[in-house]
Amino acid sequence: MLLLDGNKLSALIRKEIQDKVRLFCQNDVRPPHLAAVLIGDNPASQTYVRNKIRACDEVGFASTLIKKPASTTQEELLHVIDNLNRNPEIDGYIVQLPLPRHIDEHAVNLAIDPAKDVDGFHPFNFGKMALGLPSLLPATPMGIMMMLERYHIETEGKHCVVLGRSNIVGTPVALLLSKKAKPGNATVTIAHSKTCNLAGLCRQADIIVAALGIPRFLKADMVREGAVVIDVGINRIDDPTTNRGFRLVGDVDFEEVSQKVSAISPVPGGVGPMTITALVENTWRAFSKKS
Ligand code: GUN
Repeated sequence: MLLLDGNKLSALIRKEIQDKVRLFCQNDVRPPHLAAVLIGDNPASQTYVRNKIRACDEVGFASTLIKKPASTTQEELLHVIDNLNRNPEIDGYIVQLPLPRHIDEHAVNLAIDPAKDVDGFHPFNFGKMALGLPSLLPATPMGIMMMLERYHIETEGKHCVVLGRSNIVGTPVALLLSKKAKPGNATVTIAHSKTCNLAGLCRQADIIVAALGIPRFLKADMVREGAVVIDVGINRIDDPTTNRGFRLVGDVDFEEVSQKVSAISPVPGGVGPMTITALVENTWRAFSKKS
């Protein structure tokens, strides 16, 4: 069984980006600059944003964290976004999701300058992706595609079952896998909460991407011998034996599924670090396009 090690692969790709920054950003050329907007105090979001900022520092980017309370109004957030759009020193930025319920996520995504949309959430970038045109891709699907490419996992002609249809992961990764590209050229089924005979469908899959947000949902009896499994889930489950009082598990029951597959990504240390690496790569692309 091949372990798709997102930490190891991320370290390699981040080193490549760091080398490009060192080469390109000498004398009076400033480094790429990512900003992250964090609204409220969701503990998981705080961790993700901290890790994104840390990854930027690691490769030699500049970074700015903009923290606002959960009571921030939509108008105030749109004002922050307007400032980021106008600021020539900022190459790309993200607004960490989820947002408090009183803020319309769609209105926020629409306000982001597509050239600085390193999350690839703006409909302009999403539309370009759907048309197969070069664009800033959403970070998690892009991280998954990088993982498949670098580990030489064949997708052409394979049946991929994507569990979950979110705008952030399920829908875009299904699109990317089906594109006439490498990796790509797969036959893709999107499964969701209303899908009939989900277990039977999963057993037909050569590749399963699990992105439904249910801890250890995918069991060994739902997976064909030799399949490839990509686990996108990051679920906190109570664990009083740890310092933090919780631990992270994926959407896949790793212990039993890993006995049956040819390759699998672990949680933590799989898709998570690849998502951040894809964000760093997008920031580099947004920066170098301007230079
Ligand atoms: N929340 C969960 N995943 C993501 C992501 O990729 N980007 C942002 N901005 N928020 C998220």
